[in-house]
Amino acid sequence: MFKISKIEFRRRRQLLSKALSPNGIAILPSGREFERNGGTNFPFRQNSDFYYLSGFDEPDAVLVILPGEKRHKSILFCRKRDPNRELWDGIRSGPEGAIADFGVGDAFPIDLINEILPKLLVGRSKIYYPFQGSFELTKNIIDWIKISRQMTLNKLPAQPDLGDIKSIIDELRLVKSEAEVSLMRTAARITAAAHIRAMKVCEPGKFEYQLQAEIEHEFALNGARYPAYPSIVGGGKNGCILHYIENSDILTEEDLVLIDAGCEFEHYAADVTRTFPVSGVFNTAQRSVYEIVLNAQKAAIKQIRPGNSWNRPHTAAVRVITRGLLDLGLLRGDLNRLIKAKAYMEFYMHRTGHWLGLDVHDSGDYKVNGRWRKFEPGMILTVEPGIYIAHHKSNIAARWRGIGIRIEDDVLVTDRGHEVLTESVPKELDEIEKIMGRS
Ligand code: GLY
Ligand code: MN
Ligand code: MN
Repeated sequence: MFKISKIEFRRRRQLLSKALSPNGIAILPSGREFERNGGTNFPFRQNSDFYYLSGFDEPDAVLVILPGEKRHKSILFCRKRDPNRELWDGIRSGPEGAIADFGVGDAFPIDLINEILPKLLVGRSKIYYPFQGSFELTKNIIDWIKISRQMTLNKLPAQPDLGDIKSIIDELRLVKSEAEVSLMRTAARITAAAHIRAMKVCEPGKFEYQLQAEIEHEFALNGARYPAYPSIVGGGKNGCILHYIENSDILTEEDLVLIDAGCEFEHYAADVTRTFPVSGVFNTAQRSVYEIVLNAQKAAIKQIRPGNSWNRPHTAAVRVITRGLLDLGLLRGDLNRLIKAKAYMEFYMHRTGHWLGLDVHDSGDYKVNGRWRKFEPGMILTVEPGIYIAHHKSNIAARWRGIGIRIEDDVLVTDRGHEVLTESVPKELDEIEKIMGRS
């Protein structure tokens, strides 16, 4: 099993520091704990940017980076060791552990941040922090600037520039390292096993949540302790609700079930959707819609190679889907005109994918200077076209209504083209029927 090394975390901080003004300072808070109810918390999940730069997995911490001419300096503020709290809540690194295990240059108890941070601001002309962070952070930064000014009346410029650190980290996170790809391969492999398990145990009379349990059981058994996002298990018409998470209905013989579920492994996400018949055999209407979505997905994946623009997979999927909807009689008119008018959006209302990484909807702009970004080796994205025919549309023939199909894979851009990381989850019609044991 491959983890991100201390050296790689340090290299990331070094790269970030190179992108900052040499006289600047970066301040990045950790994630925080949130109460679920009655004095118990949701499981803690670290802020992805903070994790990307530190590997430190505790709340109540702040990472500070001071860019240098040749080498930067990192300082971590974190919770002190506390035998009493650790008895209840688990072991803490403490500042000593932060230095020893996470390779930061210095570390202090978080309780001292209001004393130490203003001193670090002295003489710094630009302060970088996440603009979309908490209001509390913005307020603290303003307070620290004020204190720092009082300390050194004439050293700090009257108005230090403020810079959003998010967009700089986004650029770094967009291209994955070998170690990151390796973790994402593991996330993909575990997720693939989970989808196969769901296909094998699915039968009429089961509840959606029972398939969710099978999926998440497989995740956890393999060391992926949490889903990367709430698992979606939608039988029949529920498959047309894009982010359906109730997962409470019974699965019936004549329906499809759409499962969109991916695990998080060592903080990295997989994101996979498969749609298959509860009975194990596609009926004719389901088959026809499925084939269109599958062909759209294949056409989209084909467009992924270095130098091609982000939008190419989407336009390829849209063309196949619009043509398919015309063939089925669900749209009428001229293909190009329908595409231009976005007529497909009645049945395909989302885009074909997103970046994938530490977050399921990973960071990184899709356009650069107003133009679609070009693929580069090391980027990872999802490809997930779908067709959703709402059950309440009385103007549509009954056989189509309530069919919701999405097929989603995770794709790595390689030097020569692409690699589908989630290839081992069956998606061909006959493969699915075979694995479900009905053909
Ligand atoms: N699972 C959420 C998505 O596919 O974007
Ligand atoms: Mn997705
Ligand atoms: Mn998904």
